[in-house]
Amino acid sequence: MLKRVISVAVVAACVFLYMIPAFCQEDMTVLLDPAFKHPQRPAALFAHDAHNEKAGLDDCATCHHVWEDGKIVEGQSSEDQKCSDCHAVKPEAGKTGLRNAYHKLCTGCHVKVEEGPVSCAGCHPKGDAASTGH
Ligand code: HEC
Ligand code: HEC
Ligand code: HEC
Ligand code: HEC
Repeated sequence: MLKRVISVAVVAACVFLYMIPAFCQEDMTVLLDPAFKHPQRPAALFAHDAHNEKAGLDDCATCHHVWEDGKIVEGQSSEDQKCSDCHAVKPEAGKTGLRNAYHKLCTGCHVKVEEGPVSCAGCHPKGDAASTGH
């Protein structure tokens, strides 16, 4: 009996743990990375699943990349890690810092494909660029 109770609990815990990332990612509408201890801007708009569907991004590694020897490794992705696991807020010389990582990835693509917001306020809605002198 006890054994059965335990195995039910284990199964329930696994289902629950699996659901957390799926739930969060589907539910994500904005991004405020907690690695920035004193955020200067309001959260960036990013409805993870809806955004990727509209933009036609099926390859997770477009954003969740893996690098080796200065190059992106094809066929591998890192959605089980946070950007901040690999990009420090204060990076070593030659490494991409966290803020730059977001801006290069997000704004970089928007500029390239000429779609999606490229102004500060377009992504940080209440952080009007003009009002802070940028
Ligand atoms: C346009 C870029 C982009 C694409 C494409 C993308 N993601 Fe993400 N995803 C992000 C960003 C940014 C985060 C937040 C990362 C962080 O907090 O460090 C994130 C977070 C996640 C998380 C963690 C959720 C949480 O709340 O911690 C999961 C899981 C995830 N993505 C899965 C996927 C999967 C699976 C795919 C492919 C089907 C995918 N992502 C495609 C940008 C993207
Ligand atoms: C598993 C580790 C890892 C994760 C997770 C990761 N990156 Fe990277 N990323 C790297 C490495 C390594 C490089 C190359 C060295 C560098 O520029 O710091 C890189 C480079 C970059 C670059 C520079 C690309 C260029 O061509 O100059 C951007 C932008 C970037 N990452 C954004 C992100 C974003 C945004 C996330 C989260 C969605 C993320 N990365 C998640 C490891 C990672
Ligand atoms: C590989 C290209 C690509 C990357 C990377 C990318 N985007 Fe986009 N984004 C698009 C495209 C394309 C659109 C226009 C989609 C449409 O409305 O049809 C868009 C639209 C948007 C919009 C407008 C509202 C919406 O959801 O359509 C916001 C906000 C946005 N992107 C934020 C972000 C953020 C934040 C990131 C980085 C975490 C990011 N994007 C990364 C291609 C990209
Ligand atoms: C395409 C969307 C996009 C655009 C355009 C953009 N950002 Fe961001 N920015 C992000 C994302 C995503 C993050 C990481 C999530 C977060 O914590 O806000 C970020 C983070 C930041 C951060 C670090 C976190 C904080 O609040 O201190 C600053 C500062 C910032 N952005 C300022 C700017 C400024 C200034 C501009 C205009 C020059 C700008 N951003 C344009 C998407 C964008």
